[in-house]
Amino acid sequence: MELKQFVQGWRWAVAAAVGKHSYTATWRRLVVVALIVSCGWARPAAALQGAAVASAHPLATAAGEAVLERGGNAFDASIAVAAALAVVEPYSSGLGGGGFFLLHRAADRLQVMVDARETAPSGVAMSQYFDKEGRAIPGATVRGGTAAAIPGLPAALVHLAEHYGKLPLAVTLAPAMRLAREGFQVDSRYAQIAKLRESFLRSGVNTDVFLDRGRAPPSGYRLRQPALGATLERIAQSGRAGFYEGPVASALVDAVNRAGGAWRAADLTSYKVIEREPVRFEYRGATITAAALPSAGGIALSQSLATLEGYTLGAVGEPATDHLVVEALRRAFFDRARYLADPDFVRVPVAKLVSREYVRARAAGIAAGKATPSDALGAIPEGASRAESQNTTHLSIVDSEGNRVAATVTINLLFGSGVVPAGTGVLLNNEMDDFTLRADLPNAFMLRGGLANRIEPRKRPLSSMTPAFVEDDKGVLILGAPGGSRIISQVLLATLEYLRAPDVDLARLVAMPRYHHQYWPDRVEVEPQGFSAEWRAAMTGKGHEIVVANRRWGNMQAVFKSKRGGAAQAASDPRGEGVAWY
Ligand code: GLY
Repeated sequence: MELKQFVQGWRWAVAAAVGKHSYTATWRRLVVVALIVSCGWARPAAALQGAAVASAHPLATAAGEAVLERGGNAFDASIAVAAALAVVEPYSSGLGGGGFFLLHRAADRLQVMVDARETAPSGVAMSQYFDKEGRAIPGATVRGGTAAAIPGLPAALVHLAEHYGKLPLAVTLAPAMRLAREGFQVDSRYAQIAKLRESFLRSGVNTDVFLDRGRAPPSGYRLRQPALGATLERIAQSGRAGFYEGPVASALVDAVNRAGGAWRAADLTSYKVIEREPVRFEYRGATITAAALPSAGGIALSQSLATLEGYTLGAVGEPATDHLVVEALRRAFFDRARYLADPDFVRVPVAKLVSREYVRARAAGIAAGKATPSDALGAIPEGASRAESQNTTHLSIVDSEGNRVAATVTINLLFGSGVVPAGTGVLLNNEMDDFTLRADLPNAFMLRGGLANRIEPRKRPLSSMTPAFVEDDKGVLILGAPGGSRIISQVLLATLEYLRAPDVDLARLVAMPRYHHQYWPDRVEVEPQGFSAEWRAAMTGKGHEIVVANRRWGNMQAVFKSKRGGAAQAASDPRGEGVAWY
């Protein structure tokens, strides 16, 4: 057993044991589990060899592992992990949200993206977001009924079980049901986020369930969500109908409309996940597969890497390379703002945007030692906004057969719209904020867009979520991250470093310092640690404005399966509380 595996085993054992029981009540159990793990006896039996799970929470990772142990495949495990994350990270994702599941089925090498993006209700009207004078109504896209789009995650869980999994939902949803009903001890991340959003939670619809008698709970508080447990059980028993029809659906429509929204029962019954062809491209001999529209992720990753392919690159962290990466991101985000949107509503020239000819022609404007002002690419009017980066969550899984899942799921901003329909325990998203309200109004991620991404009934808002597979001679990397627009740069930086290094150091990939550029605002944001004064001076000397963020961002979850021997490893970003199991 490798040292890293030994340490991961201990971390998992501690987290799993402590998460389910109190420290005092379980010390004996903890010692026994840890001894078993450290002796190597808890290594998976043959059926689990080469399997790995990385998620943002130890209890979600444990749920995935338990389902693999029960004979489930990676798709079953992804249901268990996503459902558990919905319970233990209610601020990030949940049944009231949506996401993208990137799948690889080993038996026939099918690769598909299950698009479970939330969808604008059929009755949506611009008058819900603008007053009579044409001014945007503050908060209309981020809180209350007007902020919430029709959820997609429950449909995705059912779809995965019906088309890809081996186990019934009663088994794969069992860990999440137990966590919701029996409760779990919140970690310091939960405590910190609940504190940050305390007043929002106090004033939301039934959001006091996330508080302890009206206050943000301390770490260690046991959070119970029996209503959410009951909704999960309805889905386990009745599939889609357990959520999109019957009492849950009625409660959702009622609560949203009381909170200012305009949902109809038919919006829920007609919701469908869409199987889409992922974005697939080659970069320096590697094959990369990533999220397709309505996520910008795969297209932006493809454009950025095609731009960089024309250059000799050093390591991320070397100013000469970072200058080029920033210029690539600048151009990709400009195209994101200009062209990208739900492909079922807007004709997006994807083939042209990712073509080598187009990307290379744009790259011709990059000067080795000089930043291109974003306005030189074309202007989008100014605006102001806020940014949060702890929302959204990601899970990466591989099983012993080589089936893979990279899934990024979200309710958008922390604690979503702040609406929990009575009796459901379902916290609704505020994904309507990912639409472009007007070209001069950026969203919470300071993203500005063109009218291609404007609000329309039944349309899916443009996303940045970038679940991805990177395959080269070494093996396959399965990765993704939360962080709004910064997801794209996180995945780009990790991909560049993975492909550059002859050996795989997953812990380094998920921990490496990050920077980000998104065309507008025209500045390079950098994490507070990891970029020296010399680095900043070199980038400033090339004309980049450097802004040091006040905290680190992202929470990357990565799995690697080697081509030599099929061994798997996994790593969770040290910025979060996640645990990787392999
Ligand atoms: N809600 C964040 C995203 O989809 O990019």
